[in-house]
Amino acid sequence: MKTIIEPFRIKSIETVRTTTVEQREEILKNAYYNPFLIPAEDVLIDLLTDSGTSAMSAKQWAAIMDGDESYAGSKSYFRFKNATENIFGFKHIIPVHQGRAAERILFQFLLSSIDEEGRFNNAGKGKTIPSNNHFDTTRANIEFNGAEAVDLVIEEGKHPEVIHPFKGNMDLKKLEAFIKKYGKENIPVCMITITNNTGGGQPVSMENIREVSKICRKNGIPFFIDACRFAENAYFIKIREKGYENKEILDICREMFSYADGCTMSAKKDAFANIGGFVAMNSEDWYLNCKNLLIITEGYETYGGLAGRDMEAIAQGLEEIVDEGYLHYRIHSTKYLGDKLTENGIPIIQPPGGHAIYVDAKGFLPNIPADKYPGQALTAELYRIGGVRAVEIGSVMFGKYDEKGKLIPADMELVRLAIPRRVYTQSHIDYLIEVFCEIKENKDKIHGIKIIEEPKFLRHFTAKFGLA
Ligand code: F0G
Repeated sequence: MKTIIEPFRIKSIETVRTTTVEQREEILKNAYYNPFLIPAEDVLIDLLTDSGTSAMSAKQWAAIMDGDESYAGSKSYFRFKNATENIFGFKHIIPVHQGRAAERILFQFLLSSIDEEGRFNNAGKGKTIPSNNHFDTTRANIEFNGAEAVDLVIEEGKHPEVIHPFKGNMDLKKLEAFIKKYGKENIPVCMITITNNTGGGQPVSMENIREVSKICRKNGIPFFIDACRFAENAYFIKIREKGYENKEILDICREMFSYADGCTMSAKKDAFANIGGFVAMNSEDWYLNCKNLLIITEGYETYGGLAGRDMEAIAQGLEEIVDEGYLHYRIHSTKYLGDKLTENGIPIIQPPGGHAIYVDAKGFLPNIPADKYPGQALTAELYRIGGVRAVEIGSVMFGKYDEKGKLIPADMELVRLAIPRRVYTQSHIDYLIEVFCEIKENKDKIHGIKIIEEPKFLRHFTAKFGLA
C-alpha cells in the first residue's frame, strides 16, 4: 500500500470551535496581531507549536494514574531515570519542568564563577557558545547570563530553496576557525540542536555530530546536544545517511548521544509529554553544581519541578517515540503538507523538516520588506482567513537593532506550521492547504506589520503589533 495512514485510532476527542472571518478580524485586533495573545478556544487548527501539544497514548494516561507522588525517591523517578538512560546513556540526569529550565540551570552554572561560599556570580561576559542554530530560549538563557550565542550552521542551511539531506549540520571549518578566534577557554560548551528547529526542523547527520564531537574533544570543549527532537533526527539519519538504513532507531539514538558529554531536553517534544524535560551529563562536578541550582529553584533531585505522574508520562512517551512505524508516519505526514504547499506555489524551506513546515514569507510576500515583518503579516492572514494559528520565525523572533535603532533583520523570514504529534488528521491538513491557496489569490493586498510595544528578551511572546 502506498497510502501512509495514522498508526493509531482516536479514543478521546476535543471539539474545535469555528468562527467567522469577521469574528477573527476582531479577535486579531484585540490580540494586537500576536498569535500568542489569541485565546486558544478561538483557534480552529493550532500549529503554534509541537511543544506540549501531543496527544498522549492510552498507555501514557494509564501510567499517569500510576504516578508516585512521593517527595523523595519516587518510583516514577526511577522509571523516568531508566527510560532516559536507555536512550541517552548519560551518567547523571536532572529532571526539570521544561527545556528552558534545563538551559537556565546549565548556563547559569557554566557562565558563573563560584565563590568560596558556593555562590554563583555571573561571569558570562566574554564567553561564547556556538551551535548550529540556538533555539530562542537557549539563546536568551545564554545572553541573559552575559555571554554570546553564535550560530554556525552550514551555508546551505540558510537558503530555503537549497536541497541538502542534512541542512541542520554545523559548519566544521567555521567551528574550527571560531575556536581559534575566541580561544577554547572562552567557550564553556559547544551545542548542537537536533533537529535544527530555528533552521527549519532540519536534521543533523551522524557524521556531523561525530565530527563536531571530535573537534570539541581535541580542544577540550564539552559538547552538549539540544535533544528536543532526537527521534525525528534519528529517523532522518536512518533514511538519508549511508550505513544506517538497517539500524534500529534506538541504536541510532544511542550512537548520537555517545558522542556528547550531555544533553538538554524538552520532553514536550519527542517524549509526547505535555510538560517536562531534563538535563543530563557525564561530569560528576557539573552534576553536583547543577543539582544545587535545581534544588534552589525547581525542586528536589528526584522530581525537579515535575509531578510523579509527569515523569511516568515522559518515561512511557520515550518508549513510544523510538517506534519506527510512528516516525515513518510522522515524517511522511509532514512531508505531505510540504509537498502540497510546494505544488501550489507556496515557497517553503526545502526539503520538508521533521516537526514542521516553514513557509518562506520573504519569498511568498516579496512586497513586504523585513522591517514590516512579512512573517508576522502572514501569521495574521492565516488566522484571519482560516482560523489557523502559526508562529513567525524571522525578524520578530531574531531581529536586533543597530545603535541607531534600525532593524538588523534575521537571516530568514519564516512562518512555522508546527504539527502537534498524533493530533490532526489528513483532512485538517487538506483544509490548511486550501487556506493557503485562498491567501495566495489576494496576497498582494496583505498589510505589513509594525511593532507597537516590545520587551527586551523573547519579544515575540508578548509584543504588541499593529497594521503598518
Ligand atoms: N530547544 C529547542 C530546540 C526547542 O525547540 C525548544 C522549545 C526548547 C529548547 C525549549 O524547550 O519549551 O520546553 O522550554 N521549543 C518550542 C517550540 C517552544 O515551539 O519550538 P521548552
